[in-house]
Amino acid sequence: HETEAKAGDKYILRHTTREVQVFIQDLHYRVNMENLHREDVSKFELNDIGKVSLKTASGIFMDPYRDNRGTGGFILIDPVSKITVAAGMIRSSIEATSQTTTSKSSSNITKHPDLIGRTEREQLLGQKGACLWFTGLSGSGKSTIAQALCKSLHDEGKYVVILDGDNLRHGLCGDLGFDEASRVENIRRVSEVAKLLVENGAIVLTAFISPFIEDREKAKALIGDDFKEVFVDCPIETCRERDPKGLYAKADSGEIKNFTGIDSPYEAPVKADYVIKTSEVSLEDSVQGLKNFLSF
Ligand code: ADX
Repeated sequence: HETEAKAGDKYILRHTTREVQVFIQDLHYRVNMENLHREDVSKFELNDIGKVSLKTASGIFMDPYRDNRGTGGFILIDPVSKITVAAGMIRSSIEATSQTTTSKSSSNITKHPDLIGRTEREQLLGQKGACLWFTGLSGSGKSTIAQALCKSLHDEGKYVVILDGDNLRHGLCGDLGFDEASRVENIRRVSEVAKLLVENGAIVLTAFISPFIEDREKAKALIGDDFKEVFVDCPIETCRERDPKGLYAKADSGEIKNFTGIDSPYEAPVKADYVIKTSEVSLEDSVQGLKNFLSF
């Protein structure tokens, strides 16, 4: 990058033969070239490499770079100096915020207008809809915290719904395995359900490993500002010691394949809205911390 770039900066994006106005919506991380770690940053400087979300003024026909280099690459041009300031590779579209949505929808379908909206339901329930999205390794404590928080809020008269991987995988997501495509689809379905519930005034607690940054970003884009990412941060050694379901032992012996943290990746959040270190903080304090965070 030529000088520096931060969220809100406007550029011209040249993509194939087209140019559109664009602005930087979010800087997700910068890659530290010495150790390849992802770092939280507020701006990119010369030669930085990282991940950003861009919003274009009009739709473009694009592909992920890994599928098509021609329609998956772009450059950013300074609108004043006309100098090329950055080159980029497209990872994916954030469907819900893009004008040209690439999400599938059936044909000949129109949405019904609602007679009762979110506001009316929130008034009835006496709360605001929200989604706390717990992410972390298997055995990190997502379900335990979600259950305890749910009980505590419920006792105070809140309407709280838990969506938990171990439960949904018996029904709604019972056809899915643990390969990458299945996990992506799992999180897509869960995101849609969470969105429906939030729009109906519920406080939704989701407990899924949700190992990929991209899928959690899509959930966030779909659900909006009421989505809060909670990183249940626990060293894999501790998860392995806890091994509540005996799955780490099975993964080590090769009985289970594609196990998160062993032979399937976990992409930790780089800037979660809230972090809980379950190997250091008690369950009670974690719940209280989350309630303070939610200001309940
Ligand atoms: S996710 O990756 O798609 O988000 P999800 O949270 O629904 O996963 O399910 C994870 C749960 O499934 C784990 O807590 C564990 O009990 C069980 N499980 C079974 N096989 C695996 C596996 N290969 N990797 C991770 N979890 C697994």
